[in-house]
Amino acid sequence: MVKIYFAFVILLAINLYNSKDISTFSNYEVIKQTNIEANFFIDFDSKVIHGTVKMYMTALEDGEVIVLDSRALKINSIIDSDTGDELEFLLDEQYELEALGTPLKIYKSFSKGDEIAIVIKYDTTDEGSAVQWLDKEQTTGKKYPFMFTQCETILCRELLPIQDTPAIKITVSMGLTVKKPLLALDSGIFKDKIDNGDTVTYFYEQKIPIPSYLIALAAGAIEERKISERTKVYAERELIDQAAAEFDETENFIQYAEAYAGPYEWGEYNLLILPSSFPFGGMENPALTFVTPSIIAGDKSLADVVAHEICHSWSGNLITMDSWSDFWLNEGFTMFLQRKVIEQARDLDLAKLDAKYYYNIMATDIQSFGPSKSFSSLRPYLVGRHPDDSFSEIPYEKGFNFLYYLESIIKKADETGIDVFRKLIRGYFSTYKYKSVNYQQFQQFFIDTINTEFPEEKAKEILDQVDWNTWLNVPGYPPVKNDFSNKYSIEVDEAINQFYGNTLPDTFVDTFKNWKTLLKMYFLNIIRETDKQLDDTQLEWLNVKLNLKEGYNAEISFAYFISVLTHGKDFEDSIKQALIQFLGTIGRMKFIRPLYSAFYQKDKETALATFEKYKSTYHPIAVRLIELDFKKLS
Ligand code: BES
Ligand code: ZN
Repeated sequence: MVKIYFAFVILLAINLYNSKDISTFSNYEVIKQTNIEANFFIDFDSKVIHGTVKMYMTALEDGEVIVLDSRALKINSIIDSDTGDELEFLLDEQYELEALGTPLKIYKSFSKGDEIAIVIKYDTTDEGSAVQWLDKEQTTGKKYPFMFTQCETILCRELLPIQDTPAIKITVSMGLTVKKPLLALDSGIFKDKIDNGDTVTYFYEQKIPIPSYLIALAAGAIEERKISERTKVYAERELIDQAAAEFDETENFIQYAEAYAGPYEWGEYNLLILPSSFPFGGMENPALTFVTPSIIAGDKSLADVVAHEICHSWSGNLITMDSWSDFWLNEGFTMFLQRKVIEQARDLDLAKLDAKYYYNIMATDIQSFGPSKSFSSLRPYLVGRHPDDSFSEIPYEKGFNFLYYLESIIKKADETGIDVFRKLIRGYFSTYKYKSVNYQQFQQFFIDTINTEFPEEKAKEILDQVDWNTWLNVPGYPPVKNDFSNKYSIEVDEAINQFYGNTLPDTFVDTFKNWKTLLKMYFLNIIRETDKQLDDTQLEWLNVKLNLKEGYNAEISFAYFISVLTHGKDFEDSIKQALIQFLGTIGRMKFIRPLYSAFYQKDKETALATFEKYKSTYHPIAVRLIELDFKKLS
């Protein structure tokens, strides 16, 4: 009996894994949302969004109940928009799957083909983490509060009740009401605004269907600056000049991306510079990319984040993974496009150095998840897990390496000289745009294209080489190591040899200063990865001669701190103080998660005390994951 039960559970899990997004409670295969009209009153006084959401749905089958995702929401009423009747509902706690929130069950019967609409009135609560509310002291201007949302991966359900799955796409219109003089923005195109006296309502519309995780809004004392016909930068006044200068290549990046991937379909491409607590480098919210202020380096050297978010306008936003297990379809493809853009905007060698650098970072992630664990495969097994827990460089870089490999074998076989791989990628985008896809659809598209583009034998030769199963499902390192050799890494490798041989000439101070940021990062990261303690001469180079404690950008500071934390002998007080300072100025998880982990291993007490001190300034997503990291280490 027990055996049969287990077999059943396993079958169920496998079945769910293959056919459906398992990170949602919603019954989207029975009835699916098509459009939402949302009105949000953004109440800074109580740090609550008072929401009214009208949701349009189409029934795909007969049914009795609509199940939506929700988490930490207070539902006030649900009305059937046709009849005006109140609908019964239940927030059905599912303790064993707590990570996914609470299914909201709405009792209404429908028949296949029905078009229905419901109106939900609700409030957000302080238990949710989709919204970060910043007091005025936490902003650059310090005069007005600020708020922003972050819905990827499954936090949209903490902002509004919804079918929170990338498998379903919807059009969205929003009215956002804020007190004057604040500005409210969202991931749509501005339509109108109405003055209500003390408050203003801003209206936006997103006509291209998007998955729920791309819904985003922000409000604060935000100003705008047009930097090209279709591009604006939004930021607090204190940052807007710097930001407009730093990102003045945005239009060029879009054009390079268009040249590879096809026309940009979203109308505008705007950038919003967030306060430093923003937990990511960038987030590809349609028409309004969110970015961390930590990429304003003064020399455009960290603008690749913008190139990356622009590229999501195709991979991710037009064509979306249909479940979080296929996150690589979003991120791996975007890395591939991003490096095509960087190749044009910078140079090929720099794009290769970037690939080499991030391959090494990915290797660290493979080691820390474990090379035989599902999370180090391209398609992590997420049953019972929050998709955020599997976040790492692996979907980005293993995904990129897979596409780079596919491109390379096609290049070798392609005697005509036309770029068949680019044609394939474009074909894939135009076939699947506005849809959600899984890896099988990409695989089939690849096979079909190769069969049409090449003569039979050649096609067979190409297809026989590709080991889909190992690339996609087997944990650990990619089965093929691509060659990213480039002139920059040769130069850095030489310097590294001299560094460890203690033969660096004094002129290296200037050499280093003149290196591009990525070379500096690559240099420092080799030190991080080399399993050797740093001796006094080497520490003097890093701490004193190159003076890495100060004066560089966030990526370089990060790479420095992590190297000395990992391989420095003692923990000199001035470095510790500089590190603590750094941790207090930035909330980007890419930096603070590894730093807290390394800090914890070096000096547990001070690490914990520092975290306690700054915790309230970090984003709740960051707090959750850092606490999880500490738990793993203890
Ligand atoms: N979509 C991601 C950010 C994200 C991932 C948010 C997972 C929530 C969950 C974004 O496009 C991204 O990858 N940002 C990177 C930029 C980098 C790869 C250039 C980042 O934030 O560092
Ligand atoms: Zn991305």
